[in-house]
Amino acid sequence: MAILLLLNQVDPAILEGHLKSHPDCPDVRTYPDTGNVEEIDCVIVWKHDQGLLNEYPNLKLIASYGAGVENILSDPTLPEGVPITRFVDKSLSDQMAEFILAAILNHRVNLTYYREQQAACHWQEKPAIKGNNVTILGLGELGTTAAKLLHKNDYKISGWARSEKNIDGITSYYGENQLFQSVAEADFVVCLLPLTPETREILNSDLFAAMKKGSYLINVGRGDHVNEDDLMNYLSQEHLSGALLDVFSTEPLPRDHPFWQHPKIHVTPHISSPTDKAKLARQILDNYNRLSKGEPLLHLIDRKRSY
Ligand code: GLV
Repeated sequence: MAILLLLNQVDPAILEGHLKSHPDCPDVRTYPDTGNVEEIDCVIVWKHDQGLLNEYPNLKLIASYGAGVENILSDPTLPEGVPITRFVDKSLSDQMAEFILAAILNHRVNLTYYREQQAACHWQEKPAIKGNNVTILGLGELGTTAAKLLHKNDYKISGWARSEKNIDGITSYYGENQLFQSVAEADFVVCLLPLTPETREILNSDLFAAMKKGSYLINVGRGDHVNEDDLMNYLSQEHLSGALLDVFSTEPLPRDHPFWQHPKIHVTPHISSPTDKAKLARQILDNYNRLSKGEPLLHLIDRKRSY
């Protein structure tokens, strides 16, 4: 049997090399060199071309290359009943937490501002931002690790999730009714939610209006969490002081997109937490072996919840 790599916007050769370095790895193929489709029993998927998933009659496992699975769940050809797993790893959560801390510090102490002043040989102080309230939307693996790191760094942390969470030192808000309350005091709002029908465009004018004047948005979830026009409005009204966006509805962000030139938007190229390919390869082969032994799979997603 064989594993098929269905990967866009990442180099499949690196993951293939890591998979093949394991003695128990089956044959690995890279789309479109699929060979006999009946031999494919596992696909590893990232931003794949929609409409391919029902081409493999013996598919037993769909593994996401990253933490997010929305691109798999939105594929109209997704076969019923095939288990879907996502990548969960300490490296992913730690990198994400560090990125968020860096984004907050960069804005608080005006590092980007000074780099811009330097270009004009301009010697000009700007007071650092004092506020240290952070709300994290989404308290899964990534959100919880970020919350703990920020808490250790003396930030006051609130989190919002579907259900109540019990995390030391973190104020938990939950459910639709508490969403606006959760961001009301925040100096920084971080989105780390999974993209689901309920969270699509959750970062819209209603939420921005509930955020306090001068607060800063960090989106490291998915581009489709943001209503782009609403964000531009709230930035130009100076209700929000700025936004760091790492994820976009279309990636790479098109050259003519207004976010590139916006003075209050800091664009990074979906880099907040890159997948460690060696660890991903190990995790997928572990699940592949579990499958053959009929053992429970790790990091399964729940199709009903969409994550
Ligand atoms: C990255 O965005 C991921 O889903 O891991």
